[in-house]
This record gives sequence, C-alpha cells and structure tokens, in this order.
Amino acid sequence: MAKTATADYRFYNHSPEVDDFCREVIDGFRQNQRCIPPKYFYDEEGARLFEAICQQPEYYPTRTELSLLEKHAEDIRSHVGDGCYLVEPGSGSCEKVRLLLDTLRPEVYAPLDISCEQLKSAAAAVAADYPWLDVHAVCTDITSEVSLDFIPDETTPVMFYPGSSIGNFDPDDAVEFLACLAQLTGSGGGLLIGVDRKKDHETLHKAYNDAGGVTAAFNLNLLQRANRELDADFNLDAFEHFAAYNSVAGRIEMHLISTRKQTVHIDGQGFEFNTGDSIHTENSYKYTDSEFQEIAQQAGFTLCDTWTDSDGLFSLFFLRVK
Ligand SMILES: C[S@@+](CC[C@H](N)C(=O)[O-])C[C@H]1O[C@@H](n2cnc3c(N)ncnc32)[C@H](O)[C@@H]1O
Repeated sequence: MAKTATADYRFYNHSPEVDDFCREVIDGFRQNQRCIPPKYFYDEEGARLFEAICQQPEYYPTRTELSLLEKHAEDIRSHVGDGCYLVEPGSGSCEKVRLLLDTLRPEVYAPLDISCEQLKSAAAAVAADYPWLDVHAVCTDITSEVSLDFIPDETTPVMFYPGSSIGNFDPDDAVEFLACLAQLTGSGGGLLIGVDRKKDHETLHKAYNDAGGVTAAFNLNLLQRANRELDADFNLDAFEHFAAYNSVAGRIEMHLISTRKQTVHIDGQGFEFNTGDSIHTENSYKYTDSEFQEIAQQAGFTLCDTWTDSDGLFSLFFLRVK
C-alpha cells in the first residue's frame, strides 16, 4: 500500500485498477441480466452528482439522517466514549461525520472510500477544520480486504457507516459485509449505521426519480465513465434511466434501458442490445427495523440503541460486536 504524508492528514492509496473496472463490466455484461457494480458510479463526476442528489428535495435520506445525527450526538457519545478510533467506510464528502466530531472528540478519524479525488479533498477539509484530529484517509474498495495498519492492535475502533449504503448489498452479502466490519473492529467494537426504512412506494419512487434529473445523470454517468476509461462507445442518447421499487424483493432497482437496437463496444468486444434490454446498476434495499436487526445479529452484532425520525423514514442503529 503506497503511503503519502501530507501536512494535514495521512493518505494510503489502495485504489482498484482500471483493469478491475474493465473486467467487472465485461463479466457483468456476459450475464443474462447485464449489470455493472454500483461501486463504479463514483468517479469524480459521479461523486459530484451524488452530492447533488443529496440536495434534491425528493431525496429525503440525507437530510433525515443528518437531523438524526445532530439530535442524538450526545446519546451516540454515551455509547462510543472518549478518544475513540472512528472509521468511516464509504465516507464520500465526510459531511455527516462533522456533526459528531465535536461531541465524540475521537483520537483518530479514518475515512475509507473508493473515490480517490473526493476522499483526498474531503479528508483535507476535515483535517483543516479539526486541527486536533488525526486523520488517516484510505482509498480502497471496502468490499475487498481492508487493512488498517495505523490502528494499534489493542484498540477496538468504532465504525460509522451512514447513507444506508448497506442497502446496496443483497441481504446475504450485507450479513457478510457487516461480519467483515465486526472482524475489523473486534469484540466490543461499535458500529453506528444508517438504514433506510420501508415506506410508501411513491416517496421511494420520487427519491430515485427526482424532477431535476440528477439521479438520471448519475446513473448515465456510469456509461460516460466507461467511455472515458475503457475505450467504450456507449451512446448516452440511446439509454435511459429507470428506477422502481420492487416490493417483492423490498428494494429500489436502478437500471439503464436501451432505447433502440444497438451494438456497444467495450475494450474491443461487441455487445448487442435490443430495445428495452437493461443494464442493472444498483439495488437499494429498504428494511423494517426488525429485518435489519436480524441481519446485524447474524453478522455478530448486538443492538445497543436505535433512533428513528418522527416520520419513520430512516433509522440509526448503534450496535456492538458480541
Ligand atoms: C451512497 S454514497 C454515501 C456517502 C456518504 N457516506 C453519505 O452518507 O452521504 C456511497 C459512498 O461509498 C463509496 N463506495 C461505494 N462503494 C464502495 C466500495 N466498494 N469501496 C469503497 N467505497 C465505496 C462511494 O464512493 C461513495 O462515496
């Protein structure tokens, strides 16, 4: 792992290679239901578009989770204690953690993200705004093996996993991923996690089909990224954004739908599309509190506390490794 010291924070680069992106897209395109893993949404433009999604009036999760964090920071502190090592997988803009830092006063903050440029600027901004805090930023794929060498063996870090990013995993994979977090923290380690709740379908539909077309642009940017990085020739006018709630599976599904018969080339290989063929780009599972608690329990956590907004949109859970 390459390590760079800067004036303000430590940066560890373990980012995936372009070859991984190419291989995973081509593997996904060989399946009956073509797919691209959602982790590839977040190049620089994708990260910028995600921040814009968070500002859309229809996208309730971000503002709801922010208000829960603000309201319950002291309660969270009562579970975390002083001077913890706070690790945030999928940290994005690092905006949410700012609501906790003054209250929790962690010794170390470690944002982990696959989106390297955004990670560097977000970590630098946190380091500048909280000069007392030791910031270690790790650019990594959190679904691969993550090494956090800078955390002493005797320390049990606290994980912060907001944004309902856990919803991007199928339930069995969510158990496996949370079990990996449990292993990283060790017995007694904490996990503060945000989870989007099941709710009326119209609210969900609007959140992923904002009138400003920002989620559509975010979805289509995947194809633009493939054109930029993989020598692909997707015609962005020949695919459209589709997002709908699948009530049987309990998830929003996002797809890109081909609007015509066409052939797309990626890294020299041709792929045929008929009108209506889709590329599955993301799942976002919604959970009742008890459904999520079952997943957490299977992953080796016990529930310490939970907080939900008055409209019942979103829940925060504080869990501890058994
Ligand atoms: C939905 S955004 C959430 C951002 C932020 N945590 C929030 O709550 O607003 C998901 C974040 O996780 C990162 N991410 C997605 N898949 C990842 C992976 N496999 N490894 C590391 N980071 C990942 C993305 O780059 C993005 O910053």
